[in-house]
Amino acid sequence: MRVVVTGGAGYIGSVVTDQLIDEGHDVLVIDDLSKGHRDAVHEAAAFVQGDLGERTKVAAALYAFRAEAVIHMAASSLVGESVSDPAKYYCANLTTGLALLDAMRQSSVSRLVFSSTAAVYGNPAKQPIEESDPTTPTNPYGATKLAFEQALRWYGAAYGLSSVSLRYFNAAGATEFRGERHDPETHLLPLVLDVAAGRRSEVLVYGNQYQTPDGTCVRDYIHVEDLARAHTLALEHVNVAGQSRAYNLGCGGAGYSVRQVISAASRVTGHTIPCRVVAPRAGDPATLVASSHRISRELGWKPRRHLLEHIIESAWRWNLLCLARTTRATA
Ligand SMILES: NC(=O)c1ccc[n+]([C@@H]2O[C@H](COP(=O)([O-])OP(=O)(O)OC[C@H]3O[C@@H](n4cnc5c(N)ncnc54)[C@H](O)[C@@H]3O)[C@@H](O)[C@H]2O)c1
Repeated sequence: MRVVVTGGAGYIGSVVTDQLIDEGHDVLVIDDLSKGHRDAVHEAAAFVQGDLGERTKVAAALYAFRAEAVIHMAASSLVGESVSDPAKYYCANLTTGLALLDAMRQSSVSRLVFSSTAAVYGNPAKQPIEESDPTTPTNPYGATKLAFEQALRWYGAAYGLSSVSLRYFNAAGATEFRGERHDPETHLLPLVLDVAAGRRSEVLVYGNQYQTPDGTCVRDYIHVEDLARAHTLALEHVNVAGQSRAYNLGCGGAGYSVRQVISAASRVTGHTIPCRVVAPRAGDPATLVASSHRISRELGWKPRRHLLEHIIESAWRWNLLCLARTTRATA
């Protein structure tokens, strides 16, 4: 299939692009490199540097590439920033997303896989979270992702768009070639590994009085390769005109607390990881764990690397590789 990946120079997008190419698809990455890295894009993928908001340019790129489907991963995704600057998030995640849908209509592309998030659920009343549970986001990031999901349903009914929204829980880990390089980094695991590698002095733990076994927040970590595989599966199923479907993507189980992640990282790396408890962040739910039964039942997806230690090991290998590259470059 001829697939366009928006945000394909980012962390998850680069792994999705690699898998698509490995499976024999033709890929065009569109990315403005505001957060991504040109060297993270597979050399066999075509690349257009541009902002998705530039509808004419994007429509021309889709048309020239003879795109058959789009995986839309480009977004602004810092929860804290979305609270202090909601206008940026409505523009980046909703207005820009709608411009992409217009460009797709203009170039007759009617299949879409969308990177959504667990943040659409807000502070859920029960765990594990199912797709049919209430969606009441507690920050503009989650609200803009949900608003775009809702647009997909109406675009399906009116224009025949076929879409799948994948609600990721916490993506983590690395492949042999790709890993997390966010700037600023806000995700727990890379921050913890930066401390293990001596690049930071301590990890901040936001609150230890939550209603969880050790008082720190519990999250559902999913290996980025498992996440990427869900996209290639979704592509095979995104072919019923007018249908839109949402799927959770997590490993389920009990999830892992912040303290469990820090202890596991200390075991895997062999380094002590100092941490300091600070005030909880506004709107941080105590626990977010996915039920992924729907995607397992309907698309046959199952996580293969659900053990936290395995996820951390892969990220640590990536971390050491980056460190070696930096050292070589500065030598
Ligand atoms: N990382 C996670 O744990 C997680 C969890 C839930 C959802 N998500 C979603 O998954 C997607 C990918 O996340 P990630 O962690 O790989 O993020 P990332 O920041 O590494 O990648 C996003 C990419 O999109 C590009 N981009 C942003 N705005 C753009 C625009 N207007 N035009 C063109 N390119 C643009 C950036 O340059 C970057 O390469 C995002 O939509 C995010 O909201 C991520």
